[in-house]
Amino acid sequence: MSHANNNAVPGGPSWYSDAAEYWKNVEATVDGMLGGFSNLDDQDAADSIRFVQPLIDQGIIAKGSACDCGAGIGRVTKSFLSHLFSPIDLVEQDHHFINTAKTDPALNSGLVSRFIHCGLQSFNPEEHNISYTGIVWCQWVLGHLTDDDLVAFFNRMVAVCPVIGVKENVASGQYGEAEIDHQDSSMTRAEGAWRRIFKRAGLKVVKEQWQSGWPKGLYRVKSSKEAGVDDDDKTSRA
Ligand SMILES: C[S@@+](CC[C@H](N)C(=O)[O-])C[C@H]1O[C@@H](n2cnc3c(N)ncnc32)[C@H](O)[C@@H]1O
Repeated sequence: MSHANNNAVPGGPSWYSDAAEYWKNVEATVDGMLGGFSNLDDQDAADSIRFVQPLIDQGIIAKGSACDCGAGIGRVTKSFLSHLFSPIDLVEQDHHFINTAKTDPALNSGLVSRFIHCGLQSFNPEEHNISYTGIVWCQWVLGHLTDDDLVAFFNRMVAVCPVIGVKENVASGQYGEAEIDHQDSSMTRAEGAWRRIFKRAGLKVVKEQWQSGWPKGLYRVKSSKEAGVDDDDKTSRA
């Protein structure tokens, strides 16, 4: 049962605590991570590999260290990131998810270097002298961050990694619109809202791709790669 406050608004006092309460009551399984759609795990991972591999082949992304943001139980690290990147850090706000990841032999036998229990709104790798040579990957989590916190998060990540990967649901609304989900205290941003955030964070979109083979009735899912933009010449750092 969800204990979320139905009046929660992005930036309101219970926005993050309501989300934490919601996830506390979700089972630490692939089904829990995917809202009952564990059958989509393979398709999701295969598409992500198809998206990233050409960028590695072109030398745009290095096959180095990576960070899985909002990692849950480490599903994305296991099914996708581990095929292309190593070592990997997991960042997750929920205790029982990160503890499940810690006891998973596929993750704790050298692949994952740090299990970081932290909300993305507070995660600051530079403070701990952490940087990544490959990618910072964010999947199905950024809707939990308010616009201001998301811009600040991107700024901190691009300071420690050349490329940020974003794979999120996209709402079909107009410029700047987002659909608020009061049950899990999150929002699904429309395309225009995403563009406005990337622009505010000074990021350049290097590649975009819609998820293929997705069931009708679910939100459309888009992967995009962002790279920091040099203020002087607007050249991608990737
Ligand atoms: C839909 S699940 C996706 C998990 C994982 N990315 C995957 O695709 O399997 C959303 C995850 O985001 C986490 N989350 C929610 N709010 C967060 C926040 N503010 N900072 C970090 N993680 C958060 C939840 O605890 C949950 O593990």
